[in-house]
Amino acid sequence: MLHNWTFRLPTLVRFGRGGIRKLGELAQDFGWTALLVGYKDASGMEAIYRKAQHALRAARVHVETYFEVDAEPDQSLVIAGADVYRRVRADLIVAVGGGSVLDVAKGIGALAKLSGTPWEFTNANESHRRITESAPVIAVPTTAGTGSEVTSVAVFNYPPEVTGWEFATKAAMVGDGLHPRIAVIDPDLLAESPPEILAACAADALIQAVESCLSRMANPISAILAGHAVRMILDHLPRALDDAGDAVAKAQLALAATMSGAAYDLTGLTVGHALAHALGAVFGIPHGQSVAIAGPAAIRFMAETAQDVLKELACGCRIAEFHDDKAIAALIDKISQVLRQAELPEKITPPPESPPNYLDRLVQHALRATPEAVKLTPAPVNEAVLRGLFEQILA
Ligand SMILES: [Fe+2]
Repeated sequence: MLHNWTFRLPTLVRFGRGGIRKLGELAQDFGWTALLVGYKDASGMEAIYRKAQHALRAARVHVETYFEVDAEPDQSLVIAGADVYRRVRADLIVAVGGGSVLDVAKGIGALAKLSGTPWEFTNANESHRRITESAPVIAVPTTAGTGSEVTSVAVFNYPPEVTGWEFATKAAMVGDGLHPRIAVIDPDLLAESPPEILAACAADALIQAVESCLSRMANPISAILAGHAVRMILDHLPRALDDAGDAVAKAQLALAATMSGAAYDLTGLTVGHALAHALGAVFGIPHGQSVAIAGPAAIRFMAETAQDVLKELACGCRIAEFHDDKAIAALIDKISQVLRQAELPEKITPPPESPPNYLDRLVQHALRATPEAVKLTPAPVNEAVLRGLFEQILA
């Protein structure tokens, strides 16, 4: 590996069962009024939100709430949340939820300091502003998925009237200022996670980790984090789905998701996520499912130019020996098999309301909304390549 690289993990990670009970002590370092960000539909999450509020209040931290986040959030939620943050004069943000909640909280943190709109800070916007600072965010993930608790990335949907593009867009704000200050990884919070959420989130963490290994920016430390995350998810997702009470398997998934996030924060992602974001924007497919559909095809496409990386990964996951001619095929088969076992879709049928030129839109979205992922793919990606990949995953 001859290129120069950097390693940093700006977020303090606190891992352990019952960690949510320490939220108050952690929050005190940043001030006395916390904006607690959570889901609009909190069904199944009530006990977790009660625990978070109790922990904060027990430490005499005043709590204001912004429980407005839904799945695959739009940038308007971030703008409204930043208004609330300023109005209540909050000192910090505590985000308790899955990737969408964490992303919204991070976006609110940035706008609280920098004003403007998320689109102004989005990489897909050619004249984007830099994210230089943010209000402090403590991230408490309740799913094992995006790893957003340790990344400098926040993904939102943008309607055409915001972007000036002819189609709806799903794109990432990226900048050092977006790293949460603290991530509290409490695996007990996964206890009530429904199997379909557990599966979709783990698929995201799994494919992110593989893409991190394959990225042109991969480095020796990111490869260790990502490679280990892949193995942990392949080993433990089937167990966690077979037995909802398997706390060890769920703890492994929680840790793997954070490791996957820490790895891709260093390396960026590749064409798998370019495809997945396009599927999300054009067809409205939830992120975990889009990633599960796009991931295997994207890995197969990159396999030719990244043979050693995938062979090492197959070895690290104890799937095959490095010199085994079938090591790469065995790795991809194993990934597909675990995703299939988790009942995730392998192909997508375009919904009836899809625009007639959906294939063009998918291709244009991948090129314009996720330029970094296209650039970091180890093999050249152009319109023809993307068209071919989308054709493979469309039923
Ligand atoms: Fe993802």
